[in-house]
Amino acid sequence: MDISGLREKIENEISSIRNIEDLKRIRVSVLGRKGTFTDYIDKLKTLDKELRREAGKTINEVKSWAEERLGELERRFEEIEKKKREQASLIDITMPGKKPLFGKKHPLTQTLEEIIRIFGSLGFAVAEGPDIEAEYYNFEALNIPSDHPARDMQDTFYIRPGVVLRTHTSPVQIRVMESQLPPVKIIAPGCVYRCDNDISHTPMFHQVEGLMVDKNVRFSDLKGILSIFIHEMFGPDTPLRFRPSYFPFTEPSAEVDIGCVICAGKGCRVCKDTGWLEILGSGMVHPQVFRNVGYDQEEITGFAFGMGVERIAMIRYGIDDIRQFYYNDIRFLSQF
Ligand code: DAH
Repeated sequence: MDISGLREKIENEISSIRNIEDLKRIRVSVLGRKGTFTDYIDKLKTLDKELRREAGKTINEVKSWAEERLGELERRFEEIEKKKREQASLIDITMPGKKPLFGKKHPLTQTLEEIIRIFGSLGFAVAEGPDIEAEYYNFEALNIPSDHPARDMQDTFYIRPGVVLRTHTSPVQIRVMESQLPPVKIIAPGCVYRCDNDISHTPMFHQVEGLMVDKNVRFSDLKGILSIFIHEMFGPDTPLRFRPSYFPFTEPSAEVDIGCVICAGKGCRVCKDTGWLEILGSGMVHPQVFRNVGYDQEEITGFAFGMGVERIAMIRYGIDDIRQFYYNDIRFLSQF
């Protein structure tokens, strides 16, 4: 057996170590149970006594040297790894920061707040009523007889017989008049529900109701108030017109149109070539409605109006699909 090359062989192996993986691998191949030294020690048995002692001594020397050297390398690699870990956990203050996403008021909220602001400046207080409403308040008290098309099951969500999800904010008129004497000057914003769902209808949407009752309230007051509202909301030069219409709870009734904001009255797809956009319903409170709440219809008069908040917002911002309000897509919402 020749052990003269042993030291050199081990030295070569150790000097080829570049990283912790090399180290682990070479430690096994040199010091492991089936490693180089085991090999040599096994072969010692074939030598006679004198030579065996000499060779054994050399092997032991080289082995402790190798153990020490590998231990030293291991400590060094651990040191390097530790430094790397420390560096990785340091904060790089030169890195650009992450921008926080700021929330914004929903365009419907913005529109509603603007409506409330304008009517507030004209002396209207905000009143509210329940979303789940007695059929009586939603229909009968408003002079909507049971054979009226609006009573059809297709439009109205029934909770149980006699109880509905309100189909409009008009029942708040009744609740307010039942609970106070004239004068009344309120607007009533809130959610309303109809069994309908397409590009211009959602099953839930928002309305604002208006009601003014006092001695000598005239149609010209209605016209004046709504003109101010429209000019504040859509700009002072917005053309508007009152068009005769019918509602069971007002007489006379009128729908109010504004000049189409898209084509400026020339005629387009949005206004269906009429040049006008309908924005609300209104009229003088029907005497039967006053009788239903116990008001003396000889003494007082009043006007009422109702508008859809989504519709106002769509016209104001040029939105062509009502469902956009409810997708909560940040790309849509962040535009307002
Ligand atoms: N309630 C009606 C609707 O939902 C809107 C309306 C029209 C309200 C005329 C009124 C009014 O107060 O006078 O279609």
